[in-house]
Amino acid sequence: MIETGDFTFDNRLVSAQETEEDTGLERGLRPLSLTEYIGQDKVKENMAIYIEAARRREGALDHVLLYGPPGLGKTTLSAIIAHEMGVNLRITTGPAIERPGDLAAILTNLSPGDVLFIDEIHRLNRAVEEILYPALEDHAIDIIVGKGPSARSLRVDLPAFTLVGATTRAGQLSAPLRDRFGIVQRLELYTPEQLTDIIRRSAQILNIPCTADGAMELARRSRGTPRIANRLLKRVRDFADVLGSGEITQEIAGKALDRLEIDELGLDSNDRRMLDMIIKGYGGGPVGLETLAAALGEEAVTLEDVCEPFLMQLGFLSRTPRGRCATQLAYQHLGYPVQVSTVQHDGQLLLDEEA
Ligand code: ADE
Repeated sequence: MIETGDFTFDNRLVSAQETEEDTGLERGLRPLSLTEYIGQDKVKENMAIYIEAARRREGALDHVLLYGPPGLGKTTLSAIIAHEMGVNLRITTGPAIERPGDLAAILTNLSPGDVLFIDEIHRLNRAVEEILYPALEDHAIDIIVGKGPSARSLRVDLPAFTLVGATTRAGQLSAPLRDRFGIVQRLELYTPEQLTDIIRRSAQILNIPCTADGAMELARRSRGTPRIANRLLKRVRDFADVLGSGEITQEIAGKALDRLEIDELGLDSNDRRMLDMIIKGYGGGPVGLETLAAALGEEAVTLEDVCEPFLMQLGFLSRTPRGRCATQLAYQHLGYPVQVSTVQHDGQLLLDEEA
């Protein structure tokens, strides 16, 4: 059942965080080749070359770090890498690997060339990270056998493998870990046109009738994020089935998303609450991220990872050395009086006088 009241950041429909429902949905929709993968053109072009080179050398692909906001297809890309290299994919996450022994068990079970995908790699603990270094560099791990004075270090050789690490925050990786990735790729938010293509592809796979305008309407409101686009597609289909003929048209999509309190640009109540707080609580900013998070009762990382990339892509929010500022576009969108800019600060127009 969908609640259209206040969403929290954890369960909101436009959160980019993965839910169990997404996992099943995404598995069915995942493209298997780079040519099927829509958008991220630079990443695709580079990866195609690295994959081809590794295949010609008949060796493992170099370790890959993928970073960027959640929901953009990092897991999908790792599955494509494994598929195109013709090897197995093993998927885990940083927090799931609690002890060095957990990682040793995973590593010693890999076959030559396999891809190990570690999501949220910035959340690996230090002890686990330590045994990852020799695994990445020398394809070996050092296991301590026994205790006290009789403890010995035993070197275990591993097959050459490829680590694909994914993180929303490359800055939080320790320098030694970051340095061990030969390939570092940043994923960007998708344009509405790219999301339209993704939605049309998903609709076709899921047998959901959807017009070009309907797909575009969904795309515009999906925060640049395929995970959200695919989730909204499923929800809006329910509205199309019950309120319409079953086909997702622009009108049905618009009505459904209005009912879900996702506005015409994809902002939900939490985005609007954040901008409102900056404008009404802090005169439009600058306001520090921690202060803002405390005022909203949210985690700073949630604001930073989930809300800010999209608000910045829309040009509604700017980050300055002194804090976050709402832009004139944000004032306009939220229906506040247009302001006249009088002060130039750090390249950012500060708005402090009503027109
Ligand atoms: N599903 C999720 N992300 C996708 C992408 N970039 N291309 C095609 N389908 C996708």
